[in-house]
Amino acid sequence: MSTIESILNETRVFQPSEKFTQQANIPSIQAYQALCAQAQLDHQGFWAKQAEELILWHKPFTEILNDKTPPFYHWFSDGELNVSYNCLDRHLATQADKVAIIFESDDGEVIQSTYRDLHLRVCQLANALKSRNIEKGDRVIIYMPMRIEAVVAMQACARIGAIHSVVFGGFSAKSLHERIMDAGAVAIITADEQVRGGKHNPLKATVDEAIHMGSIPSVKSVIVYKRTGSEISFDPTRDVWWHEIIQDAITQCEPEWVNAEHPLFTLYTSGSTGKPKGVQHSSAGYLLGTKVSMQWIFDYKPSDVFWCTADVGWITGHSYVAYGPLAMGATQIIFEGIPTYPNAGRFWEIIQKHKVTTFYTAPTAIRSLIKLGADLPAQYDLSSLRLLGSVGEPINPEAWMWFYEKIGHSRCPIVDTWWQTETGCHLIAPMPGAVPLKPGSCTFPLPGISASIVDEAGHDVENGKGGFLIIKKPFPSQIRTLWGDPERFKKTYFPEDIGNGQYYLAGDSAYRDHDGYFWIMGRIDDVLNVSGHRLGTMEIESALVANPLVAEAAVVGKPHEVKGEAVIAFVVLKGQYPQGEGAIRITNQLREWVAKEIGPIAKPDEIRFGENLPKTRSGKIMRRLLRTLAKGEEITQDISTLENPAILEQLKNPSK
Ligand code: WTA
Repeated sequence: MSTIESILNETRVFQPSEKFTQQANIPSIQAYQALCAQAQLDHQGFWAKQAEELILWHKPFTEILNDKTPPFYHWFSDGELNVSYNCLDRHLATQADKVAIIFESDDGEVIQSTYRDLHLRVCQLANALKSRNIEKGDRVIIYMPMRIEAVVAMQACARIGAIHSVVFGGFSAKSLHERIMDAGAVAIITADEQVRGGKHNPLKATVDEAIHMGSIPSVKSVIVYKRTGSEISFDPTRDVWWHEIIQDAITQCEPEWVNAEHPLFTLYTSGSTGKPKGVQHSSAGYLLGTKVSMQWIFDYKPSDVFWCTADVGWITGHSYVAYGPLAMGATQIIFEGIPTYPNAGRFWEIIQKHKVTTFYTAPTAIRSLIKLGADLPAQYDLSSLRLLGSVGEPINPEAWMWFYEKIGHSRCPIVDTWWQTETGCHLIAPMPGAVPLKPGSCTFPLPGISASIVDEAGHDVENGKGGFLIIKKPFPSQIRTLWGDPERFKKTYFPEDIGNGQYYLAGDSAYRDHDGYFWIMGRIDDVLNVSGHRLGTMEIESALVANPLVAEAAVVGKPHEVKGEAVIAFVVLKGQYPQGEGAIRITNQLREWVAKEIGPIAKPDEIRFGENLPKTRSGKIMRRLLRTLAKGEEITQDISTLENPAILEQLKNPSK
């Protein structure tokens, strides 16, 4: 309730300026409402019209939605297309020499690639993949630095109908191993090293480690892009250099025409149980979602210089780097480095240098830049900007105001976009020329997205009341299944106990205010949001328990000024309960352990040791008490069911 009340106090409303509205794709609230009304009247007809207008079909579809086997929905399923053709070839006749990507490396080097050039590179790599016997339907892991080549790799897979699965370069060998195994990948595309903030991260060595963690017979090729030229180990039966295999590859490659429902990619994300989920997306529905949202929410114009700062390892980097902007024929920025290197003005410098018009980033980045250099933006010319965007977690009104005033000079609307790996594109977000903004609210659903808030029985709750965020009707860009686990897909997203399995359950709680604006309150499951990254508490607990010293572990989140949430672990060791120096030593050891097991993003911020965890008499860990302890608050809850109250004292303080 306190969250609801604190947000309800936010009464500021920001109208789009007349200047913005005049040029906007959707220029008024009436225009927005008219689109919603059309979708309401004829949901399928509405989406079919969008699909006909926005996608180049090799074979047109005749069936719009096949909903015979819910929740396994199929859209446009007898149509055929190729996503790479829709992103590249379609621009060759009209704007081959337009810059598609302005790439800036960690050390400031700039490389530009036109649509003609990008098409050529994608065709070459696609042919090279084919020559390595990689075929339609094969899974390819991409573990790459944030460079043009990462996009080329994704597009080349799409071109031949191979299903890519990008793994974020910050994930450990163990996480990579799990994903390669789950996907049954035949190839891995990687680089010798990744360079971010001046630091080198040995990607190829991590791939080698992942492969040697157990037999992975499926992997026949490891394709290595030479980023730094550092020494790497090379297995000639499996490893090949990117630059060598493209040397002889021809620069034309007929796209593989695939069915609309052919999986474009899978992307692993955290859930409330230990094992990451391989979210599977379609080709046509997904492409359509990225395109409509580019137009409606990013108000895309051909003259834009678009910059989404997300890494391609996350869904945001898929939809708004690798696919959406290219499908629109946009010029976009790709940046290899981090916002704080060489100093906290790097983002603003890039905006100034490349005259960025649309800047899309995460609240955690905004908060860290406020902390490190709130006055820095004033030193840069940010007048090219016309639209700002935010994604990944709720943006707190203070950060919103700073972003609006210091970066957008009170001139640029901010689109606060709510969506998920599973939804493929924005679902709740303002159309910036139409919808008045409230700091901290993602405002209204896109047309054709039947978002609602319901109670446990699946009934709509009244405005002002919190509940489960759900989507009532199927939509084209939604998750199709979990790779290899349709049962888990059904149970997780269409649970019987909320609305009889009819609705897509997002896993977030939310409420609508009295004007109908949506406000996201947080996750309802055991998923943390650390710097905009989803981490399952179970995943971190399993990693901790896998350490030979650890008997038991429970992980909870605690609000964090910059990261949104911090990871707090409560740990019981097998041996003696450590204190003082010993506790500090083991804390460091366990933090490094988690970094190795999952990746540095999952490292606990704090570890607290006890002889036991607070449990009920039936042995259930009382997580709500752990949350209170993590926040450093006094326990006022009922602890009468607690088996071992003395434990709370031990767990009160982190080891210093
Ligand atoms: C959260 C990222 C509030 C939410 C695109 C969601 C948000 C999860 C917002 C998905 C937002 C994302 N306001 N919360 N604008 N955007 N979230 O899969 O909890 O990495 O369920 O996709 O992030 O995270 P994911």
